[in-house]
Amino acid sequence: MKSAIVVWTALAALPLFAQTSPDQVATILKSSCGPCHLGSQAAGKLQLNGLAALVNGGASGPAVRPGDSQHSQLFLRISAADSSIRMPPTGKPLTAEQIRTIKDWIDTGAPGLIDFAADIQPILRANCYACHSGAQPKGQLRLHLLSGLRKGGVSGPVITPGKSTESRLVHRIEGTGGEQRMPLKGQPLKIEEIARIRSWIDAGARLPEGTETSAAPMEKHWAYKKPIRPQVPEVKHLSLVSNPIDAFLLAKLEQHNLTFSPPASKETLIRRVSLDLIGLPPTPAEVQAFVDDSRTDAYERLVDHLLASPHYGERWARPWLDLARYADTNGYEADHRRTMWKFRDWVIDAFNRDMPFDQFSIEQIRATCFRMRLKARKSPLAFIAIHSSTKRAASTKTRAILRCWLTV
Ligand code: HEC
Ligand code: HEC
Repeated sequence: MKSAIVVWTALAALPLFAQTSPDQVATILKSSCGPCHLGSQAAGKLQLNGLAALVNGGASGPAVRPGDSQHSQLFLRISAADSSIRMPPTGKPLTAEQIRTIKDWIDTGAPGLIDFAADIQPILRANCYACHSGAQPKGQLRLHLLSGLRKGGVSGPVITPGKSTESRLVHRIEGTGGEQRMPLKGQPLKIEEIARIRSWIDAGARLPEGTETSAAPMEKHWAYKKPIRPQVPEVKHLSLVSNPIDAFLLAKLEQHNLTFSPPASKETLIRRVSLDLIGLPPTPAEVQAFVDDSRTDAYERLVDHLLASPHYGERWARPWLDLARYADTNGYEADHRRTMWKFRDWVIDAFNRDMPFDQFSIEQIRATCFRMRLKARKSPLAFIAIHSSTKRAASTKTRAILRCWLTV
């Protein structure tokens, strides 16, 4: 197919074909066909007072299939041997030269028939930009950029110039090929809009020259970005800063002529930090001990003590267990009990042992993959196996969660 495009392109460049300009065609149509094919009463609902309306065609659909005169109503009707269907139906028929001009124009891709900016871009803008533009376009497909239209998406090019039937963009808007129809969840495109996009592609999918330089580079998902340690900002009141985080906060406050609130009392501080780190309030005795502790590093000692508490893992396993949909019963209408605490305890223990995240992930995925063999003895398989209802739902959910996790 590629060779055919190359041939077309080459032919279009030859002086012979260069003679068939869109203007010539428009002039023939206007003078010979315009009288009947004009305005709201146009014969066969086909406007022939220029090229613009040819894109949509008439009662029988597009009148021109770029590159293919033998399947273009426009050519078939002017060259018909049968006078009962030949156009114009009355008056002087077109000359052989005029017919040839129109045929050549169609066969060289009908240049000028469809203009990307006027005929195609508005369709994409109205129906696709919502998801296929910006820094994180869906499927990594940026339909608002010329470069994006040329490059395609996550699965490669979406347009095959000259071949609409092979273009994935067309499969998607027509809903063929077993993938989700686009626009996703929205109204399908109108038949004439699809026809226009197809004609544009069949005519070689011409795009304006150049690329957009203003385009923001595609943003990586945060999970794939290497963390970079930022510079600690300078502040006016250095005495208020006891660690680098304070400097970040104070710098922002100082921009607005604000400063820190006064330090909390020791009673308040121990309550806050206890709730934060272990999820439990301090006992009155612990409060008293902290208040009475006059050592300069009393607060650091308190924090170390809380971090070493087994309650630390209970407190911080909770957000993870929530995400993993942990529950002691299995939901659904009966909500039966199930044995799930081993997974809960494994997660708590992982936090208390400060298990690195990669190991935490690998062990759970491994346990899930070999769950039949390992049984629940000491394995963390539940993250992926937790589910609310039937086995079938479980396997669907398992796949979905595993996929999310592996791709972050
Ligand atoms: C005297 C009036 C008249 C003139 C002039 C005329 N046509 Fe038509 N044309 C009609 C009528 C009426 C129909 C609808 C009936 C039919 O399809 O045959 C029609 C239908 C058509 C259709 C089919 C449209 C569709 O979508 O079904 C095409 C294509 C067409 N004309 C092309 C031409 C071209 C090209 C010219 C100029 C070379 C032309 N016509 C000149 C009267 C005219
Ligand atoms: C509501 C959001 C939404 C809208 C609107 C939308 N898309 Fe998509 N599109 C997606 C998502 C999500 C994906 C990735 C998943 C997939 O391939 O199905 C996608 C993927 C695609 C792909 C495949 C990209 C690749 O390389 O795999 C094409 C082609 C596509 N869309 C075309 C369009 C076109 C054309 C329009 C407008 C007519 C459109 N989309 C409108 C959400 C949308």
